[in-house]
Amino acid sequence: MDQHASHVLTPPRPEADAATWLARRDGVPAVWGRYTDLVVERGQGSWIETIDGDRYLDYTSGIGVTNTGHAHPRVSAAIAEQAGRIIHAQQNILYHKPGLELHERLPLRFPGLRPGEQAGLFLSNSGAEAIEAAIKLAKHATRRPAVIAFRGGFHGRTHAAMALTSSGVKYRGHFEPLLGGVHFAPYPYPLRNPTGRDDAAAVGFAIAGVEELFATVIYPDDVAAFVVEPILGEGGYVVPPDGFLPALRELADRHGILIIADEIQTGFARTGRFWATDWYEARPDVVVMAKGIASGLPLSGLLARRELLAALGPGAHGGTYGGNAVACAAALATLDVIEDEDLAGNAARQGERLRAGLLAATDGHAAVAEVRGRGLMVGIELADRGTLLPRADLARGLLAAAFERRLLLLTCGTYGNVVRVIAPLVTTGDEVDRAVEVIGESLAAIGA
Ligand SMILES: Cc1ncc(COP(=O)(O)O)c(C=O)c1O
Repeated sequence: MDQHASHVLTPPRPEADAATWLARRDGVPAVWGRYTDLVVERGQGSWIETIDGDRYLDYTSGIGVTNTGHAHPRVSAAIAEQAGRIIHAQQNILYHKPGLELHERLPLRFPGLRPGEQAGLFLSNSGAEAIEAAIKLAKHATRRPAVIAFRGGFHGRTHAAMALTSSGVKYRGHFEPLLGGVHFAPYPYPLRNPTGRDDAAAVGFAIAGVEELFATVIYPDDVAAFVVEPILGEGGYVVPPDGFLPALRELADRHGILIIADEIQTGFARTGRFWATDWYEARPDVVVMAKGIASGLPLSGLLARRELLAALGPGAHGGTYGGNAVACAAALATLDVIEDEDLAGNAARQGERLRAGLLAATDGHAAVAEVRGRGLMVGIELADRGTLLPRADLARGLLAAAFERRLLLLTCGTYGNVVRVIAPLVTTGDEVDRAVEVIGESLAAIGA
């Protein structure tokens, strides 16, 4: 008998049910806390199907990744086609066609260009990794040591990205000491702004917070960059007032500070425009992207003016897998689908339908403090309308009740009290109406 026989695992028969597969999950570490026990068989468009044949409306989009829907035929075909040619054509060794094409196409999308300028693209694998690249670029280019991030921001879980993150203590607690030279200013959050709920007060409070840092903690000419999400993601789907990014741009220009826009969750048409910064009259110096870029294959990167990007010479940054050929092919197909199917337009239209539906469905529910968002990035904040006491219990309850009705949602927010609705950008009006109906029923079921 084979001496290793006892270690050879016999996979469950393909037709085995979920319970048989779940019996094998012991080795999956707890750090991957999971929202559901679903074992997925396939996904298509806005839907996933479990191995038991149950269908769920997936309004998580894999945390804002599958903007083109699950397994879009054009994306799947591009992946298969490229995988048949070459999978790994390492960036320090070879050029490959999808990479070259992506280096031409994505820079045309850079929102920070002034007339006569050209943008460049750096590719990596994950959001956090692209944030690391942006921080290194800003430090290298400005020769300044510090960065300013905003309270409630989430930028990833690697050491530098986590040091910029303040959306929840679980992401950084017990990991001190973190990267030095990181300072925090308030993010404008009108609903919870201590100086008043109007837009001007919220912007004033945030900008005053930056000025206070300059007066108390760090000289502005030691600051390389502001790192900012144009809409807070993990921090609660908070949409800043229109005046915030222009005011930050003014401050940045005054002190020679770069603006790094973290568009990892907001980019690739999610908010109804290609970038969320396209909604605001303020140009970022660097745009960081991941998630929606390749419809689910691991790819990330940053865009910046070519002269700025040139600050990083050969070897100053990189990685084995960045700009993988199959991931680049998926990104090109993703761009084609976004353009040909007008996914930004659909996100804007369905987003309006979703928000209008949710406003009607939540009307009269005393624990729904706000429905907010742009495009298909929509949050429902559960809190006592008077005191604003966060109600994470109700957010969890809403998720569970929606799950029972075969709708997948996620929470976010520092206190876990915001339910986020992240529909794929290919979603239809009927699907949006179904989701609204389920959320209305779920709120009633939990007595919110
Ligand atoms: C705004 C933002 N930045 C950075 C990240 C980190 O990306 P990744 O998980 O790919 O490292 C995320 C992920 O949720 C994000 O939403």
